[in-house]
Amino acid sequence: MKQTLKGLTVAAVPATLGILFGIGVILYGINGHKTEEAAAKPEGTKQEQAAGGATSEIGNFVTQNCATCHGQGLKGGFGPKLVGTALDEKAIVDILKNGKGQMPKDLAKGKEEEVAKYLKSLK
Ligand code: HEC
Repeated sequence: MKQTLKGLTVAAVPATLGILFGIGVILYGINGHKTEEAAAKPEGTKQEQAAGGATSEIGNFVTQNCATCHGQGLKGGFGPKLVGTALDEKAIVDILKNGKGQMPKDLAKGKEEEVAKYLKSLK
């Protein structure tokens, strides 16, 4: 009787460990896979937008709303040239929000930072 119990315990320990390990691997596999998928998708979408959509969208916005005064290619017209401007982003945001001389304010309402970054990216 004693011997049988001992034998059972000896057999049960590795068996239990084996089962737990197996469940662990399966759960890890499922979770790991899901997390990878969830992480991969939004990132991929963001990168695509940064590469094409968002940049040209703000580019179109600036062409439509600023080129009338600042000239084709923003190289100067009624307003000064904006390509290669010496102003920093903060100063541009400030002018967009408050206007300056003949430059009306709030032309890029809510997009000031984005437009400023875009202007600084132009060469
Ligand atoms: C109605 C014409 C007009 C439009 C439209 C216009 N601007 Fe201007 N902008 C001006 C004028 C005029 C000045 C010069 C103001 C001054 O120095 O007195 C100016 C100045 C600026 C300056 C400062 C440049 C410098 O070197 O001092 C920035 C930056 C600027 N505009 C950005 C923009 C952006 C971005 C847009 C589009 C969202 C825009 N402007 C649309 C007329 C315009």
